[in-house]
Amino acid sequence: MRYADLHRWSITDPEGFWMEQAKAIDWVTAPERALFDERAPIYEWFKEARVNTCWNALDRHVAAGRGEQVALIYDSPVTHTKQTITYVELLERVASLAGALKARGVAKGDRVVIYMPMIPQAVEAMLACARLGAIHSVVFGGFAARELATRIDDAKPKAILAASCGIEPGRVVHYKPLLDAAIEQAAHKPDFCVIYQREQEVAKLTEGRDLDWHGFQFGVEPADCVPVEGDHPAYILYTSGTTGQPKGVIRATAGHLVALAWTMKNLYGVNPGEVFWTASDVGWVVGHSYIVYAPLLHGATSIVFEGKPVGTPDAGTFWRVIEEHGVVSFFTAPTAFRAIKREDPAGEFVKKYDTSSLRCLYLAGERADPDTVIWAQEKLKVPVVDHWWQTETGWPICGNPQGFEPLPVKIGSPSMPMPGYDVQVLDEGGHPVKAGSLGAIAIKLPLPPGTLPNLWNAEARFVKSYLSTFPGYYETGDAGYIDEDGYVYIMARTDDVINVAGHRLSTGAMEEVLAAHPDVGECAVIGVADALKGQLPLGLLCLNKGVARDPDDVARECVALVRDRIGPVAAFKLAVAVDRLPKTRSGKILRATMAKIADGESYTIPATIDDPAILDEIALALKRLGYPQG
Ligand code: COA
Ligand code: AMP
Repeated sequence: MRYADLHRWSITDPEGFWMEQAKAIDWVTAPERALFDERAPIYEWFKEARVNTCWNALDRHVAAGRGEQVALIYDSPVTHTKQTITYVELLERVASLAGALKARGVAKGDRVVIYMPMIPQAVEAMLACARLGAIHSVVFGGFAARELATRIDDAKPKAILAASCGIEPGRVVHYKPLLDAAIEQAAHKPDFCVIYQREQEVAKLTEGRDLDWHGFQFGVEPADCVPVEGDHPAYILYTSGTTGQPKGVIRATAGHLVALAWTMKNLYGVNPGEVFWTASDVGWVVGHSYIVYAPLLHGATSIVFEGKPVGTPDAGTFWRVIEEHGVVSFFTAPTAFRAIKREDPAGEFVKKYDTSSLRCLYLAGERADPDTVIWAQEKLKVPVVDHWWQTETGWPICGNPQGFEPLPVKIGSPSMPMPGYDVQVLDEGGHPVKAGSLGAIAIKLPLPPGTLPNLWNAEARFVKSYLSTFPGYYETGDAGYIDEDGYVYIMARTDDVINVAGHRLSTGAMEEVLAAHPDVGECAVIGVADALKGQLPLGLLCLNKGVARDPDDVARECVALVRDRIGPVAAFKLAVAVDRLPKTRSGKILRATMAKIADGESYTIPATIDDPAILDEIALALKRLGYPQG
């Protein structure tokens, strides 16, 4: 079958297509029906089936004789550690951790927040929750206490699993004080916390609340897998929306398993037993799907990499890992390659390693710029596949199915829609536009299995955010076009979300923090182009009348405030005071126009602008910050 026929099958007969793919999963009660559309536009998949994720990721492989195969390779240049964990060892560790959680009352449906760096224990924590049917919510370590508190209040976890610290190049991230501050700030309090003490920093446990990771497992009965319904939430993962309140994306269990299982061979071209490496973080959706669940479901070996593309210790780290562990498929964000290319433009480090095991490189998380793609292709001598997806979808919307039928690569495009995704480009009225025309990218409902069925405790927000603008479609928030051959091009966001080093951030959330500064009356945060990180946030601040302080001091305090409230991951380092912000006559701040000025792009003065002279003032202020660059 050709890929085009496969895709057509998935769209014209979703029931038949996905029932066929469901055969890759071990069910407790096999599905008799795939799609449930009774509550359209809210759709569900395989909800009458029963299944356990951990069984499919671990137990069944051990039962099938794969127990001695390495499941996880922990490679940590920041701690100079390398370890391998076989499937049978991982199963024992996970069953023990699950047993200890169960003994403390964690049961199916309870939420568990996980706040851990890139260590195998983070994967074990996720799988232990899956074993019990508990719903995990992993919070990325680069977020500050306040962001963690917001997630604790929304998810209301029974337990929090954390590590004592994380290691960033040149500094130890003190997780425990961040955790303590978050619990202090949150209205909801967990019953208990479990702390994995790392040797780089042993944290002081809070008596009566904190338990030691190993101590609390002592003498407990390992837990068995708890079957859950197909629509049971496997996890909640918070992602940036347009406000400071992140969206709790729900991943339903059965669809997650079926969709991910399809991708490993067909999209990533990986066979069971081979080594698949995603250099991301378990705090992001890419890490959930392609560090943890998909490789293990497939019986592959996954790498838990605790390091950076450069500086740990050098720009050759990625190639060392590929050589040393025999990686066949490698997945990372374009920004990581830009970082390497900047340090080693001639690719001298690549030559020092044997990367011949590698068959393909996959890039996602942000637009893959042609320069980076071409550099990677030339240096690694493998196909470079750009693929497009979102936290909401959990697996790629568009990609190039290397294991099924490699499609000709068009640089600048993440290729074609994956099965079940009916991708269309719509005009403002919601009508499909002709090939090559720009518009909002929307996906005709239903979305395929594995994508979000809803937001945690926020169905109205789910419908409003994604399903209302274009009835019958899911609004992706991305804009772009589809060419004559059906290749999709993602060009920009249609909302206030920006993409910084492959991390999705909300400018609205940053504005909320800036507005909380006592001297700031009004503000706007825009995304400006950055050669390394793709985009960087930049804040424009109008100080309150009568503030006599040095505006640069206020700007510095605002930078510190965002780091303190949102976290270092926001990479908010650019802020400048201005007298006024440009607005339309109805009062809407002209953020897009300011971003164009900062990027040195041509722009038309909006007809609705209140006072065009303000744009000149903005240009002057941006110049003080060095924008446009170059
Ligand atoms: N815990 C705590 N802090 C973290 C963190 C974590 N897990 N991850 C990042 N941070 C901090 C960094 O230390 C940095 O802090 P600083 O301001 O004190 O320097 C800040 O957050 C910004 O981090 P980042 O944007 O990652 O910048 P960087 O300069 O440290 O590294 C790259 C730049 C390009 C090397 C890096 O961003 C990278 O590897 N990106 C790949 C992203 C990725 O995998 N995305 C997933 C989607 S596929
Ligand atoms: P996240 O939810 O953090 O995975 O971010 C999703 C957003 O990142 C998408 O909506 C896009 O804006 C952007 N994105 C992800 N992958 C790509 C890609 N391959 N090309 C262009 N943009 C991408």
